[in-house]
Amino acid sequence: MKKIIIATQNQDKLREIRAIMEGDGVSVLSVKEAGIQADAEENGATFEENALIKARAVAAASGAESAIVLADDSGLEIDALGGEPGVYSARYMGEDTSYEIKNRNLIGRLDAAGGKDRSARFVCAVAAVMPDGQEIVVRETMEGRIGSEAQGENGFGYDPIFYPDGYDCSSAALTEAEKNAISHRGKALRAVMKKILYKNGEKSKKG
Ligand code: IMP
Repeated sequence: MKKIIIATQNQDKLREIRAIMEGDGVSVLSVKEAGIQADAEENGATFEENALIKARAVAAASGAESAIVLADDSGLEIDALGGEPGVYSARYMGEDTSYEIKNRNLIGRLDAAGGKDRSARFVCAVAAVMPDGQEIVVRETMEGRIGSEAQGENGFGYDPIFYPDGYDCSSAALTEAEKNAISHRGKALRAVMKKILYKNGEKSKKG
């Protein structure tokens, strides 16, 4: 079975990633489970660069392990705020500030800006570093809008204020399976897995 190490310390992401990859015939390990210690400064200007920085750092630290390393870098882009918080989504207002405060702040800033254009998207770049050093990067989005109030108990981060296109509720009001089916992370991970499995000829073997 193919071994995949997920380069994240974020337990919310890890839970979603495991659920999305279940059934792909792969064994998914967190960096902690793989016994890898790797710190990387996320100083890239784009989601793609940051995903690669994280995946490369863990791949370098994994030494002789013949595993595929996957990393995700993601965030929320709000059009009326010039794409903020964007690549700074985790660091917006400081890492230790609660999402209740961050979410209230973003709704307040949008309202102050007139509140008409509420379009936004979650973006996710997933980078894979293969055992032979080959790199794959994929970017996907979930389009939607910022609601006028927070809603829902599921998900994490900015989910309570993000209402996906076609839904009258926030992504925090969706079940995990419903969110994963349409999310930026779900789409990017499925696209990367397809490339990894095709690369190894496994899809053609299965037919
Ligand atoms: P990073 O990719 O670890 O730098 O952080 C991504 C940040 O973007 C998270 O900490 C959240 O604040 C936000 N984010 C990314 N994906 C989601 C999501 O699916 N729901 C809610 N917030 C998200």
